[in-house]
Amino acid sequence: EMSPQERAFQERIDRGEKIEPKDWMPDGYRKTLIRQIGQHAHSEIVGQLPEGNWITRAPTLERKAILLAKVQDEAGHGLYLYCAAETLGVSRDELTMALLEGRMKYSSIFNYPTLTWADMGAVGWLVDGAAIMNQVPLQRTSYGPYARAMVRICKEESFHQRQGFDIMMKMAKGTEAQRKMAQNALDRFWFPALMMFGPSDKDSVHSAQSMAWRIKMNTNDELRQKFVDQTMPQIDYLGLTCPDPDIAWNADKGGYDFSEPDWSEFFDVLRGNGPCNADRMQARRKAWEDGAWVRDGLMAHAAKKSAQMAA
Ligand code: 3HC
Repeated sequence: EMSPQERAFQERIDRGEKIEPKDWMPDGYRKTLIRQIGQHAHSEIVGQLPEGNWITRAPTLERKAILLAKVQDEAGHGLYLYCAAETLGVSRDELTMALLEGRMKYSSIFNYPTLTWADMGAVGWLVDGAAIMNQVPLQRTSYGPYARAMVRICKEESFHQRQGFDIMMKMAKGTEAQRKMAQNALDRFWFPALMMFGPSDKDSVHSAQSMAWRIKMNTNDELRQKFVDQTMPQIDYLGLTCPDPDIAWNADKGGYDFSEPDWSEFFDVLRGNGPCNADRMQARRKAWEDGAWVRDGLMAHAAKKSAQMAA
């Protein structure tokens, strides 16, 4: 049973009103947002690692500059999102500690390695493509600071997606060795990209409540279907082959039928057993420890300044 306060809150959501930081909100709404926004922020930060891996090895100066800018954008997205989470009463340090202690997640996709330059294409095209599919609707999410952060993030993500497709074009239409490299990257990233949308609707614990609160705008399966429908013609355009042998156009539903990803692999990656989980967490812990002197210096400077002001 909803309390009158909860009912009034739900009615605001149903009318399409934005909820702002100082408004009353149910505990569960606040917790779910902190979980989702925090997880999203961590994904942006950890998401720098697989691409950061290729900055020093980009094939041309131009590709290097573009990749560097893209990875910097991800850092920026992480920072906006931590700020949005902070409006809910949790600090960035608390969120960081939760990540480092394994109490919060980041997207499963970043636990896969980037083995070749074509992977930079596949990541931009498929991973950022899947991210946009999920984030464009979130521009209309009920929590104001999250919705507004999404507007800028989505603009930058579409640039990222295009740069990834551009790399894929170059590789797919290049030499035979390049074409093979592009196909191999698609083969490895296809199913992990489909997993980004989360478990199938029947196993999605949060979807029903999150959609009622408009924290989520679509179910996981709806977005996965849209992603497949958008991406198949792009695979054809590249002259590559989808690694799913059972994928087929279904005229009745006006979309593709496709194989589900291996959900046991997905849950195993969530438990920390993906190919790169340990590396990613080690890199984040090292960054946190290596940055301690900067944080300490800033705090010491701020304390000295405020002592001077008081004097
Ligand atoms: N990776 C890791 N964990 C995942 C996941 C994934 N791909 N998909 C689902 N999960 C987790 C959920 O967090 C939940 O676990 P928890 O209860 O311990 O938090 C559990 O699996 C059950 O899934 P649900 O469907 O019930 O979870 P949600 O309702 O939260 O839906 C979601 C999952 C669709 C990913 C949703 O959280 C969401 O829309 N998040 C915002 C977008 C986001 O985080 N995107 C990150 C993508 S990467 C990115 O943006 C970086 C880029 O620049 C490329």
